[in-house]
Amino acid sequence: MVAGALGGSPDSGDTRLRPSLEVRLVRATRPRDVPTIPQNPDTVDDVPNICAGPFGAFYDFYIERPWLMRLIGRAIWGIDASVLYASMEPIGRAATGATILDVPCGGGVAFRALSPGQDVRYIAADLDPKMLRRAERRARKRSLAQVEFAAADMTALPFADGEADLLLSYSGLHMVDDPEGAIKEMARCLKPGGRVIGTTFLADASRRARGLFAIGARSGHPVPPSREDVMGWLTSAGLTEVAIGPQPGFAAFSGSKRRPDRDR
Ligand SMILES: C[S@@+](CC[C@H](N)C(=O)[O-])C[C@H]1O[C@@H](n2cnc3c(N)ncnc32)[C@H](O)[C@@H]1O
Repeated sequence: MVAGALGGSPDSGDTRLRPSLEVRLVRATRPRDVPTIPQNPDTVDDVPNICAGPFGAFYDFYIERPWLMRLIGRAIWGIDASVLYASMEPIGRAATGATILDVPCGGGVAFRALSPGQDVRYIAADLDPKMLRRAERRARKRSLAQVEFAAADMTALPFADGEADLLLSYSGLHMVDDPEGAIKEMARCLKPGGRVIGTTFLADASRRARGLFAIGARSGHPVPPSREDVMGWLTSAGLTEVAIGPQPGFAAFSGSKRRPDRDR
């Protein structure tokens, strides 16, 4: 069970990611042979993850304050970060009983669009147990008892085909080596008629941001994709109504899974 694997046995005295009162940890169904997800926090901690280190705590602080995020986004990256918050609007409108997958959930920024009483199945997933722990705290703070948690690699999602009505993928695409594969996985997990919404840094960023990407690339971080790449990957994953915002350097993207009977 994920809880034991992430947090040690409930009797071990290890407080890491133990199933808590407010938050249920789930292992989602594994529909096919996907590579094993690292479940040992020590193993996962070996993965370079800037979001889980001291910078990540700072990131979590400012991303929870849209005015500050906008300011920092503009000053450091030359981006319009308001597109992130604006793109969350469909979360609050999700139908009763809908399944929402949020991957990578990071510290749980998208929880801000969910209300405590909203009757949806919301699964927050991330590769890194530290991020899941942060998200767990965020869910508790916001009294979001409906949020479940899963360890998941966005390039090999441990969810069944057609499981999600809404798949959120905020600022994760530019973090993985295989963003095209990640988009294929998102499309696979959507129900017909379901929608993916996400944000990503883009290659057409400001000069300063491109300089920062180049520094990141020297320590093994992927470089952000181009707008055309993202559009092409969404389309070749079989999604329809694909769109990406016009903002340079950082934009929201979306696409819908075809309904065989309706979208020809
Ligand atoms: C920039 S943060 C974005 C998190 C959150 N969605 C947000 O907007 O604040 C990137 C996240 O991607 C996660 N991550 C990196 N590679 C991943 C992968 N292959 N699968 C799942 N999560 C991954 C990191 O642990 C981190 O939480």
